[in-house]
Amino acid sequence: MAAAPTPVTNPSPGPAPSRTLVVRGIDVPIPVRDGETVLAAIYRAGYAVRAGCHRGGCGICTVQVVEGDVDYPVTVCEQALPASQRAQGVALACRAVPVDDVTIAVAPESRLRCIAPLLTRLVLGEEAASRKPA
Ligand code: FES
Repeated sequence: MAAAPTPVTNPSPGPAPSRTLVVRGIDVPIPVRDGETVLAAIYRAGYAVRAGCHRGGCGICTVQVVEGDVDYPVTVCEQALPASQRAQGVALACRAVPVDDVTIAVAPESRLRCIAPLLTRLVLGEEAASRKPA
C-alpha cells in the first residue's frame, strides 16, 4: 500500500516568511524570509530599485527605514553607510536584513518599479500587481 502524500505547506523554495516588508508606494506587505535582505525581498516580489555593487560598498541602494529595525549580518562599508546616517534610519537595501516587520521609504531617484508583474501576482496577489508604485 502506498503512503499518503505529504501536504505541501510551503510550495515556494526556501524557508517560510517570518516577517514583512512594506515599501511605501507599493503598500502591500512583502513576506521576508529569515536572513533575506530588503533588496532580495523587493526583487522576489517582482520589483526593483536602483542598486550598484550588491555588496554594501557603494551606497547606491540606500533606503529610509520608517518603522521596524534592520540588522547587518555581514559587513558594510563605513563610507557607503556612515554611522551618523545609520543612526537616522538610513539603510543599505542590499545588506539590511529585517529583524522585525519593517516599513521603508524609497527616494524617487531610486526608481522603484515593477519589473516582473507575474512574480508580483504570485507573491503579493492580483490587486498588488495592478498598482503602479507611487
Ligand atoms: S548596491 Fe552597493 S551598497 Fe547596496
